[in-house]
Amino acid sequence: MGHILIENLGKTYIDRRRKQRNSKDKNRSPGTQVQVLKDINLELEDGEMVCILGPSGCGKSTLLRIIAGFDRPSEGTVLIDGKPVKGPSSDHIFVFQHSSLLPWMTVRQNVGLGLRHMNDKKAMGKQIEEYIEMVELEGFEDHYPYQLSGGMKRRAELARALAVDPDILFMDEPFTGLDYLTHLKIREEVVNMHEFLGKTTLFVTHDIDDALVMGDRIVVLSGRPAKVKLSRKLTYVRPRDFMKEKGLSELREEVFFMLGVHYAV
Ligand SMILES: Nc1ncnc2c1ncn2[C@@H]1O[C@H](COP(=O)(O)OP(=O)(O)OP(=O)(O)O)[C@@H](O)[C@H]1O
Ligand SMILES: [Mg+2]
Repeated sequence: MGHILIENLGKTYIDRRRKQRNSKDKNRSPGTQVQVLKDINLELEDGEMVCILGPSGCGKSTLLRIIAGFDRPSEGTVLIDGKPVKGPSSDHIFVFQHSSLLPWMTVRQNVGLGLRHMNDKKAMGKQIEEYIEMVELEGFEDHYPYQLSGGMKRRAELARALAVDPDILFMDEPFTGLDYLTHLKIREEVVNMHEFLGKTTLFVTHDIDDALVMGDRIVVLSGRPAKVKLSRKLTYVRPRDFMKEKGLSELREEVFFMLGVHYAV
């Protein structure tokens, strides 16, 4: 299961750089409060892929970290399958913003990281092979990360996340730094995997086209403090084509406009 319910979520950080250092001063300021998220209400159905867009620094990663249990909200609640999130859980796996493969481990060892608890080593090996095959890295099992291209590293990370068979996947700008064609290819693979495995996925991106091509729903956040500006279900069949789907190209223009770009090509 992977149902997520976010109710009245808020997050305020204390900016300690402005905190006065003199501890003897009883009236010293505790630091400036910076409200990042405000009144966020969202519900993700089991198996839904929701793509989150928003201006840089608005709080997208903060929202993901809170839902994943790495950070605590200041207000509101996050329920996963009806239970409040109290901390990180292996049922939900992050695919990090930047390469997170362990450089001293091979592809096989990296993909197997989340499966170390399995007693049946033969079954474990089979599971690792299966996911390496799924991301088309056969033949590279014994390679180290430095021997892989950027796209291959990203695929290995994806295999590592999927191998644990989580209910929920968190992806924070996973395509950053990839060249244009590799980006499109990996995007295609993520869409295929999503259709095949049907995992609840929260995908944070700056790329409006990624969100429109991939998402079962797109959510646009406002600038800080981030609020939900738009939440729209996308029922267009995949693969999606802006040229052929008038509704999709209109929505694309609307989202660009919302994010401050008035002449999108
Ligand atoms: N631990 C922290 N302490 C204080 N402020 C923080 C902390 N983490 C994030 N912030 C602030 O919260 C705001 C939102 O940060 P966040 O990383 O969530 O934005 P984002 O939308 O993911 O940005 P980007 O699109 O650039 O990745 C920023 O202004 C940041 O400075
Ligand atoms: Mg971020």
